[in-house]
Amino acid sequence: MPVGTVWWADLGMLRPWHLRLLDDTERRRLATIVHPRSRRQSTLGAVLLRLAVARHTGASADRLRVVRACPSCPGQHGRPRLPDHPVGVSVSHSGRRVAVAVGDHAGADGWTGLGVDVERLDPGRPPADLARWCRQEAVVKATGDGLRVRVRDVTVTRSRLLGYPGRPELRGHLWDLRPGPGYRAAAALVGPPPLPPRPRIVERSAAALLTGRRRRPARGVRRARRVRLARRARCDRGFPAA
Ligand SMILES: CC(C)(COP(=O)(O)OP(=O)(O)OC[C@H]1O[C@@H](n2cnc3c(N)ncnc32)[C@H](O)[C@@H]1OP(=O)(O)O)[C@@H](O)C(=O)NCCC(=O)NCCS
Repeated sequence: MPVGTVWWADLGMLRPWHLRLLDDTERRRLATIVHPRSRRQSTLGAVLLRLAVARHTGASADRLRVVRACPSCPGQHGRPRLPDHPVGVSVSHSGRRVAVAVGDHAGADGWTGLGVDVERLDPGRPPADLARWCRQEAVVKATGDGLRVRVRDVTVTRSRLLGYPGRPELRGHLWDLRPGPGYRAAAALVGPPPLPPRPRIVERSAAALLTGRRRRPARGVRRARRVRLARRARCDRGFPAA
């Protein structure tokens, strides 16, 4: 059974070296985002997307071709796609939380696929209402329509898509996710029938993906490495490796 993964990150995990993973189009677009928090959210989403897809496919994060063609204009700010890999992806951010979903369902027919949505709880809105909104928005992100369809007209249960404006045949699986306190989130996998068997969705922290490269080894590991290097140096100089 195919598995999708939702990677969770916090804005504090963004590092300067992450920018080197992005391509020129991404860097140019991010530079146009005026609000600092929005820019950080989108930057972390773009970086995590690359790292998560690299993990999923074995490709190099900085060599992936990511396109974000907008269906309404020539801009590169639409739904992200990986034209060279059969994977479906979706990005969402709210407050400090950033989610990237990666799965095997690439939406080869151009409009089915994977969607994720995270929203920060709002004191003026019942949490159950927000959770439902997340399910509905995950669906419109999975189709790629976004807010071009009326989100409230998407009919969902907790685990199923039952009705989609203008596409009555469309069906889907839904998952309520665990974004942490103060947030609600959902993922959706949608397509025409027959829908694939319900895949497993795994949620993981992106901490190791985003900070792993620069993590300092534990003290014992550093000492063992120093001893090994010193031994090798003695051998190289012709001393016994005692
Ligand atoms: C997609 C959309 C529903 C996201 O709403 P949101 O709750 O504000 O934002 P989220 O954090 O959940 O998702 C944002 C991410 O969705 C992705 N996205 C953008 N357009 C998308 C689409 N049509 N379908 C699926 N995902 C989309 C992007 O990765 C974006 O992240 P980024 O901007 O950092 O690259 C909404 O922005 C939308 O409908 N946009 C399209 C509107 C449009 O086409 N306008 C015409 C512009 S010319």
